[in-house]
Amino acid sequence: MSKERLRVLVAVVATLAVVSTLGWFWQQSRMPSTYSVMDMGYLDQGHGAAMSMAHRAQHSGGRSVASLTAHTDRPADEVVDLVARKGTVRLASGRTVDGYTVNGTSPGPTIQVREGQLLEVRLKNADVPEGITLHWHGVDVPNAEDGVAGVTQDAVTQGHTYVYRFVADRAGTYWYHSHQVSHEQVVGGLLGALVVTPRAPAVAGTIDRVALMHTYDSVATVDGRPLTRVRAAPGQPVRIRVINTDNGPVRVWATAPYRVLAVDGHDVNRPTDVDGRGAVLTAGGRLDLGVVAPADGSGVRVQVGPTAAVVVGPADVEVTAPEPPPSSRDVDLLAYGSPAPLGFDPSHPDRTFRYAVGRRPGFVKGRPGLFWTINGHLWPNVPMFVVHEGDVVRMRISNSSGDVHPMHLHGHHAVVLARDGVKATGSPWWFDSLNVQDGESYEVAFVADNPGIWMDHCHNLKHAAQGLVAHLMYDDVTEPYRVGGDTGNEPE
Ligand code: C2O
Ligand code: CU
Repeated sequence: MSKERLRVLVAVVATLAVVSTLGWFWQQSRMPSTYSVMDMGYLDQGHGAAMSMAHRAQHSGGRSVASLTAHTDRPADEVVDLVARKGTVRLASGRTVDGYTVNGTSPGPTIQVREGQLLEVRLKNADVPEGITLHWHGVDVPNAEDGVAGVTQDAVTQGHTYVYRFVADRAGTYWYHSHQVSHEQVVGGLLGALVVTPRAPAVAGTIDRVALMHTYDSVATVDGRPLTRVRAAPGQPVRIRVINTDNGPVRVWATAPYRVLAVDGHDVNRPTDVDGRGAVLTAGGRLDLGVVAPADGSGVRVQVGPTAAVVVGPADVEVTAPEPPPSSRDVDLLAYGSPAPLGFDPSHPDRTFRYAVGRRPGFVKGRPGLFWTINGHLWPNVPMFVVHEGDVVRMRISNSSGDVHPMHLHGHHAVVLARDGVKATGSPWWFDSLNVQDGESYEVAFVADNPGIWMDHCHNLKHAAQGLVAHLMYDDVTEPYRVGGDTGNEPE
C-alpha cells in the first residue's frame, strides 16, 4: 500500500470512529417517543438505605399516582373557575404582548383561601393547542393534584376541563402556573398568585398585598405594571407578598427599613429590621416583606429588581428609586431571625442524597450542546431519588456549573442546615425554591411525608427544558402517565 493510501485509510478509520462514538452518544441521549419518568435514568436509593430495594413495589403493585388524592368526599369551601387562553395579553399597564391569559388577564386572578379550607379549582382549556395544567407552586398538595403533565396527570386538551381539589393547610404565599411546556407557558404568563390566609386573623389594620413579579417581553412588572401602588395611611403596616415568577433571581430593596416576614410560605421566627440592605428572591420563590407607611405622610418604595417597584403611602406620593445597596450586604437567611424547633431530627437521616449540578458538552434529546449534568450524568440518564414514606432525608445540593440554579422540589418543604459548611443559625429556613449559586453547596433536610412521584428540578425553566430535571419517588408508588409522543405531555 502506498503511503498516500495508508494515510487516507487511517483518516477514514479515525473519522468513522469519531462519528460512530458521537452517534452512540446521540442515540443514548434520545428517549423512546413516549416514556414513563419511572423508567428514566437510574434508581438512587441514597446512602444508608441499602435494604430498601427489597421493599420496593414492582411497577404492577403499589399505589398509583392517580390514587394519591385526599378528602375526596369533603365538599369544597371555595370553588374557583379558571379559563386559560393563548393569544394577546393586555397587561394592567395597558401594554399588549403575545402569551397566555387566565380569565382574560395575566397574571390570572389571585386565589385566596383561608388555612384549612378545601379549594376546588376547575381549569378549562379554551384554546391552548399544546394543552395545559396547573401546578400549585409551594403548596404540598396530594400527588394527584400536583399538576405535572405526564407525571401526575395528562395535559388538559382544548375544550376540556380538569378539577383540582386540595386542602390549603398552611398559611402563606404561593402561586400557580402551567406545568405543560412550562418554559413557554409560564414565561408567556399562564400563572397567578395563591394566598392562604391564617386561621387567626392578621393584626387589624395591616394591609395585605400580593406583588407578583413577572417579565413580559423583557419588561419587568409587578402585578402587570412597572410600578404598582399600595395605598396606606401614615403609620399603617403593610405585608407585601413578593412572588418571583421569572427564570432568574431578583433583588429587592427599599427606601425604608423592612422585615422579611416569611420565606416560601413559612413565617420567619422573630424577623429583625433590615436597613439599607437588599434581599435575594430566587426564581419561583416568595418573600413576604413587612413595611410601615411613614408617619410623616411620605411613601416607601420597594424595588423589585432595578426597574419594577411597589410604592406604599398616600395615593399619589412620589418616591424616587433608591440606589441598589451593595450585594455583599444582602440579608443572609442562614443567619436571619431566631432559631426555633424544626419538628424533626435531621441528625440521623434515613437516607442521604447528593444533587450536584455541573455542565459538560454532549447530546440531550438528540441535540449536541453544552448541557447541565446531575451527579455527572446528562438527561435522561439522571438519578431517580427513591425514598420510603416516613424517611428523614438529607440532600447536599451543589453547583459547579458556572450559572445560578433555583432548585425546586415539589410536594415538600426542606430546611437549610448549612451552606458551604457554615451552619444555619437563624430562624429555620424552610424553602421550596433555593437559589444555588455557582460554587455553592447546601446541606438540606426534609421528611418524606407526602407519597408520590415529585419533580425536583431547576426553576429556570429554560434549564429544565435542557434537562435539569430529576424526580423523587416513593418506593411503593407507580406511574400511570407517560411523557412525549402521542400523549402530548411535555412537562418542561
Ligand atoms: Cu413552579 Cu415544577 O414548578
Ligand atoms: Cu438552572
